[in-house]
Amino acid sequence: MGAPYINNDYRDASDTSQIAIPANPLDRVIGQDEAVRMAQIAAKQRRHLLLVGPPGVGKSMIAQAMSFYLPRPKQEIRVVHNPQYPERPFIEIKNSDQIKVEKEEQNLVEGETIDPRDAPLNVAERLNYRCPRCGYYSLPTEMVCPNCSSPKTQPTTQQGPFGDVFNVIGAAFGVQNSTDKVTSTRRVGEREEVIVYEKYGDKIRVLDEKTLERRRKMEKKSPSKVIIPIDRNPFVLATGASETELLGDVRHDPYGGHPQLGTLPYERVIAGAVHEAHEGVLFIDEITHLGNLQRFILTAMQERSFPITGRNPQSAGASVRVDKVPAEFILVAACNIQDLQYILSPLRSRIVGSGYEMLMEVAMPDTPENRLKYLQFITQEIISDRKIPHMELAGAELIIEEGLRRAREIDHKERALTLRLRELGGLIRASGDIAVASERHLIEKNDVVEALKMYLPVEEKIKKYYGNLGAAMSSENTLSQSGENYYMNYHNYREDRSYD
Ligand SMILES: Nc1ncnc2c1ncn2[C@@H]1O[C@H](COP(=O)(O)OP(=O)(O)O)[C@@H](O)[C@H]1O
Ligand SMILES: [Mg+2]
Repeated sequence: MGAPYINNDYRDASDTSQIAIPANPLDRVIGQDEAVRMAQIAAKQRRHLLLVGPPGVGKSMIAQAMSFYLPRPKQEIRVVHNPQYPERPFIEIKNSDQIKVEKEEQNLVEGETIDPRDAPLNVAERLNYRCPRCGYYSLPTEMVCPNCSSPKTQPTTQQGPFGDVFNVIGAAFGVQNSTDKVTSTRRVGEREEVIVYEKYGDKIRVLDEKTLERRRKMEKKSPSKVIIPIDRNPFVLATGASETELLGDVRHDPYGGHPQLGTLPYERVIAGAVHEAHEGVLFIDEITHLGNLQRFILTAMQERSFPITGRNPQSAGASVRVDKVPAEFILVAACNIQDLQYILSPLRSRIVGSGYEMLMEVAMPDTPENRLKYLQFITQEIISDRKIPHMELAGAELIIEEGLRRAREIDHKERALTLRLRELGGLIRASGDIAVASERHLIEKNDVVEALKMYLPVEEKIKKYYGNLGAAMSSENTLSQSGENYYMNYHNYREDRSYD
């Protein structure tokens, strides 16, 4: 055992910097070939997936990689104000082509922008770009001219040719004059045309009659809010989510949606994870921890939609409901073997009926190919950590030996390499930290030896230092008898880090 036959396949490699890692995220999952194949099929055919197995064997990795195989989302989801019944906003689904057309229309009502120096002097002064005293141009947000230090605000008598007459015209076009806008006219051939100048950062926006007309039409449409944008991550992690995070909510409005004071109900609607995962993957790790919420997931899967409603009965949001909010996700659920019995049985049969269940591997045979996979894994861990240097192959061999040992100790598998890899990743990082502390540019064999010592779980250290003290407690946790707990209860911080 521990025969360094990885060198045979990497004759020229002396450390992990010479080892290539695959670009495809599913190929980075080692030793779970069957689960990976299932995941590929599930993504392609839009099937659900239940991954069963102990922590740290790649369940989350597979779920996340699945979204790589999914096409980009094609729909944007909006809630639209319902003028007849504001507490029942409508749902509107737009595809990418429709969004594009809308954007083009939007551009049409934006008008062109000009430099304030190209605007009529009076306009530039009324909009506070030009100092009426010295003629210096500055941003309208500056109240005092940076050049002559006099206040830029205009005395009302100095309105020049732009008198109130034009404000009347402006009003006819639905434009109110303020310090943000000036309404004027210009000659177009035979006739006078209304033209509006608007503040626009360091530019002035010019709106002619046609543009104003288009803008008025657009404003007549019912207001709406995008709750699920088209540019979104098709992978949604809902682990440990609360009811509102999972299913959406309608925020409270202290003014009870009062037409003048309050916020309209549609504006207070918030999507949940089941909606955010529309067209994508909804990943729920430790699904049984959801308890009763599991039945809502089931409903969403059956209906392919889920209503959004205020979930706090004391809140003004409780009277608001949006029906049929799309929620067509692929469910990827994970749980460990002991918890399998707590999965809501109709939910489990739903997954089996339109998807796959998969038992994850805990170890893989010790073969030259699989040692290479281990090498790939070590390299991946080093690269994704970004804080540690590459590892000499002699060090990697020690990691492999540790992998053999753990397969034997934890899962009683001989001549096998453990696939409880999260823990092994911790060992790699610890070795790297030791190398960094000694300012080495490579992780050497001795760093791994050190890390193996340092990496003893606290229970082991207690025994080492205190002899028999607590022996009764720790006897179940000795290395030779180690149950699952021995390796499971530390270093699981890694999981949360993978998704931020
Ligand atoms: N099969 C595997 N192949 C490569 N790396 C793995 C594998 N399993 C776990 N890892 C490493 O451990 C980390 C945690 O794995 P994760 O997918 O969260 O496990 P699980 O979801 O089964 O608890 C991963 O980010 C990866 O670095
Ligand atoms: Mg996980």
